[in-house]
Amino acid sequence: MNERSAVVTGGARGIGRGIAERLVREGWSVVVTDVDGAGAAATADEIGGVAGLAHDVRDPAAHRHAAEVAAGHGRLAAWFNNAGVGDDGRLSELSEEQVRRLVDVNVLGVLWGMRAALDGFGSAGGDIVNIASLSGLGPVPGYSVYAATKAAAVSASMSVAAETPRSVRVHAVCPDGVRTAMLDAQDPEGLGAALVHSGGRLLSVEEIAEVAVGMVGTARVVRTVPVWRGALMRGISLAPAVATRGTAVFAAQGRRALRRG
Ligand SMILES: NC(=O)c1ccc[n+]([C@@H]2O[C@H](COP(=O)([O-])OP(=O)(O)OC[C@H]3O[C@@H](n4cnc5c(N)ncnc54)[C@H](O)[C@@H]3O)[C@@H](O)[C@H]2O)c1
Repeated sequence: MNERSAVVTGGARGIGRGIAERLVREGWSVVVTDVDGAGAAATADEIGGVAGLAHDVRDPAAHRHAAEVAAGHGRLAAWFNNAGVGDDGRLSELSEEQVRRLVDVNVLGVLWGMRAALDGFGSAGGDIVNIASLSGLGPVPGYSVYAATKAAAVSASMSVAAETPRSVRVHAVCPDGVRTAMLDAQDPEGLGAALVHSGGRLLSVEEIAEVAVGMVGTARVVRTVPVWRGALMRGISLAPAVATRGTAVFAAQGRRALRRG
């Protein structure tokens, strides 16, 4: 048995799978969880995780169960709130069901996960890594609800980091667009897709996994990827009225990048 265990939510595929793979390589006992239980089990099997669980992050009891399973494989010392949904569209275009699901999974899912992790860490403490998004740091037309949920994840990470003992470190990773099934499912003609591609290059799962796992043990709370887009977003958030006028420029840049493939 390894000394330390970790839970990765939404780990069946995409960024979560990348994080889980990297943790296994670094010697952690990794519990892969996902609302797609068969996917979680298959991923855990393929990458050498200790367990693959069906776990809907909207259910607080399921988080507690994941923490218990992890504790059976080493001291629970890291928890990655990675599960998320990414419905794109303007506020007026999304169905009530989509809006509720975005909030339930991306906001409540992270809050329940943090509570289970804090409880599971005990007095020895540990690291919580929340996979937020660059969109949580400023205005993103065409992604307004998603961006709001990610802003909540960044905010909660900062507050919980400040209200917990020093043995607990809480981090928010804010990636720009990453090449995964989540982006593939979005409307390629939509404003959101154009803005995601305005950075010129989509990031890889491996790049985000390296940053996310690299946060463990550090005092860093918010980390944007890439750093320059983070600085741009923070600047834009100081002058949202100017940003509204700049949207068309960024969108045109993104559409050019999309055409180039
Ligand atoms: N892909 C991007 O461009 C991008 C950019 C920034 C942040 N993110 C964030 O990274 C995280 C991972 O996204 P991804 O791109 O790998 O997407 P993905 O769709 O490939 O993977 C998301 C995983 O979460 C799982 N999931 C969805 N709802 C769940 C629920 N209720 N309970 C448990 N698991 C659930 C899915 O089954 C899936 O396996 C998300 O939080 C996403 O918002 C993605």
